[in-house]
Amino acid sequence: MISDFSSLSRLLVDGRVALETNTPEETQEVGRRLGAAINGPLVITLAGDLGSGKTCFTRGLARGLGVDERYPVTSPTYTIVNEYPGRLPLFHLDLYRLGSCDELEEIGYRDMLQEGGVIVVEWPERADEHELGAHLAIAIAEREGDNRKISFISCDEKVDLPILF
Ligand SMILES: Nc1ncnc2c1ncn2[C@@H]1O[C@H](COP(=O)(O)OP(=O)(O)O)[C@@H](O)[C@H]1O
Ligand SMILES: [Mg+2]
Repeated sequence: MISDFSSLSRLLVDGRVALETNTPEETQEVGRRLGAAINGPLVITLAGDLGSGKTCFTRGLARGLGVDERYPVTSPTYTIVNEYPGRLPLFHLDLYRLGSCDELEEIGYRDMLQEGGVIVVEWPERADEHELGAHLAIAIAEREGDNRKISFISCDEKVDLPILF
């Protein structure tokens, strides 16, 4: 069950919220709501085990950002970066295969930041947190069955949470 998003908004202003989903569709819907609320450059880190739902969440986020259904959002496991056109450009990164922190530079992360779009980073722990810059940190935890706990953990003070919901 997705909780009431008006309370989510209040909780986010306090800098922390966690909610539960029970289906992939619900996780996508949480992502979609977040995507729909974004109206400026933002880096989002998505932590969570393999199969927790990070790509699923990003799929919803892309729709909320206005990425057309013609663009299937697939895991950038091998490409490391996938880019989609939306209201703002969306860069979907999967750093699982990143060899070293230097590679963040090699994949053009700085240029992505300068484009002023939305950067979603799966496996952010593979990179140096400082290099990722100010970000909204989200974690997805796989629980029993299809239940997932999505936590909006932390946020750099440069990220203005009230704009999100
Ligand atoms: N509540 C849920 N939210 C997200 N995914 C779920 C949920 N329940 C089951 N799943 C399944 O878990 C898998 C998540 O895959 P994916 O999004 O690729 O994970 P990740 O990117 O974290 O490795 C999918 O097969 C999806 O159908
Ligand atoms: Mg993934």
